[in-house]
Amino acid sequence: MFQSDLLKGRTILITGGGTGLGRSIALRFAELGANIFLVARREEPLKETAEAIRAKGARAAYASADIRDFSAVEKAVEAAEEELGRVDTLVNNAAGNFIARTEKLSPNAFNAVVGIVLQGTFFCTLALGKKWIAAKQPGHVLNIVTTYAAANCGSGFVVPSACAKAGVLAMTRSLAVEWARHHIRLNAIAPGPFPTEGAWSRLLPSKELEERAKKHHPMGRFGRHDELANLAVYLLSEQADYVNGECVVIDGGLWLRGAGEFNDFLDLPDAAWDMLEAARKK
Ligand code: COA
Repeated sequence: MFQSDLLKGRTILITGGGTGLGRSIALRFAELGANIFLVARREEPLKETAEAIRAKGARAAYASADIRDFSAVEKAVEAAEEELGRVDTLVNNAAGNFIARTEKLSPNAFNAVVGIVLQGTFFCTLALGKKWIAAKQPGHVLNIVTTYAAANCGSGFVVPSACAKAGVLAMTRSLAVEWARHHIRLNAIAPGPFPTEGAWSRLLPSKELEERAKKHHPMGRFGRHDELANLAVYLLSEQADYVNGECVVIDGGLWLRGAGEFNDFLDLPDAAWDMLEAARKK
């Protein structure tokens, strides 16, 4: 199904590609022949992931940038083109999220998450989309959202993320229509729980919460990174050329059991919240 040259000749820019799911997706794309450009804030993981990609025989480069800053995004795209040539594919994977009672959030906490997820995704899409349209070249965009965006239900306790991801999905579907005439295809993936250091430390920051989430899952397990990476490969490959404006859920059936992935936190007593918030990780 996934031939070893499936993505040969493609140059893919991945935001948040230094760590977590972005890193796993990047490594899988590289195995299938793509050149990879990573964009994220922290240099150390970017460097390490770029080296791991090169060790697979693919070309890789990176830029550290905060995607909330449009000029930093434009500079990163220029750097990608200098290092690897024309970028033809964008994966908007970078995100920010945390579990919190909404009444405890500051306005700046909302802005931080919406800035990364919604504004950052738009900035990256705009920077590359403008180039593709001006050069009359096709492009592919894949946006990583969440099940609470795909199911249109939102979720308590992750309200900035729910607002931002719903916006990203609206953008995906709007541009899928508007830019189809420019041969730009946009799709989304809505993952359920896939263990990563970044998400787990912010969303399930204790063994107890992790066990609770696993018990609640219809399949009794979390997702494996290769399962998500292979779905991303399919959606970005030419084999999915007629799939446009779609959002594919990959969560083992979790959201069907009860919409709003974190709504279950309603059961959490205030004392547990106080403990969680005291141990919060930025
Ligand atoms: N609960 C409540 N508020 C929080 C918080 C938490 N766990 N973490 C940060 N905030 C608030 C801060 O207090 C600050 O508001 P203030 O200025 O009014 O105090 C605001 O959010 C911005 O925080 P800061 O750390 O300056 O922002 P940042 O832009 O560096 O970080 C985050 C953005 C908060 C989203 C950070 O968690 C992050 O960078 N995450 C990226 C990775 C990630 O989240 N991965 C998991 C994806 S599932």
